[in-house]
Amino acid sequence: MIENVLKSRRSIRRYLTDSVKDDVLHKLLEAATWAPSAHNKQPWRFAVLQDAFQKENLAHAMGNKLRFDRTNDGDDPEIIERDVAKSLKLIEGSPIVIVVCLSMSDMDVYVDEHRSNAEFLMAVQSTAMAVQNLLLAAHTMGLGACWRCAPLFCAETVIDTLKLPQNWHPQALVTLGHPDEDGKTTPSRLSLSEVTKWL
Ligand SMILES: Cc1cc2nc3c(=O)[nH]c(=O)nc-3n(C[C@H](O)[C@H](O)[C@H](O)COP(=O)(O)O)c2cc1C
Repeated sequence: MIENVLKSRRSIRRYLTDSVKDDVLHKLLEAATWAPSAHNKQPWRFAVLQDAFQKENLAHAMGNKLRFDRTNDGDDPEIIERDVAKSLKLIEGSPIVIVVCLSMSDMDVYVDEHRSNAEFLMAVQSTAMAVQNLLLAAHTMGLGACWRCAPLFCAETVIDTLKLPQNWHPQALVTLGHPDEDGKTTPSRLSLSEVTKWL
């Protein structure tokens, strides 16, 4: 049963226009918060965008930042505009966008960089576990979702545009809705022998 759930979940990138009810969203976010976390400090934070204006606002701000960075890279302007348009469509075309962040406010504090980095990594790991809960919960409820990494590349833009607390570190966008595709049917996985050492 659990194996079926794990193996049948796919990243879903196209959604019907139907909205997702608030009580369903609450259940998904609650599922996320039952993830394990380092010291049980629950560093995950979520900004939920349902409103078209909010999504447009974020999409345009992120698109502008993408255009700026890619222009600095010296990329072909036509390809840049194609990718910006893709990015806009992705955010504006998702019924729900959840910006997943982490906060270090309750995590342990160290004086040295090495342990501070380890602590930050623990917050990242904990937050990723929360997202996995959310993705699996969405799947079991017949919804489709996809993790998008873009906010990592424009964290300040995301914070400023959505007026998030300055100590929230954007980690990902989760786009969510009723699926309008099945996802990739045969997503490959490395074999156990490639990823495991039996000692
Ligand atoms: C950290 C992380 C970042 C990802 N970033 C993106 C992304 O930016 N855009 C996207 O379409 N999918 C993204 N994905 C989804 C992966 O492409 C997807 O999980 C992978 O191809 C396996 O497919 P499956 O989820 O259908 O099993 C990301 C997944 C993870 C865990």
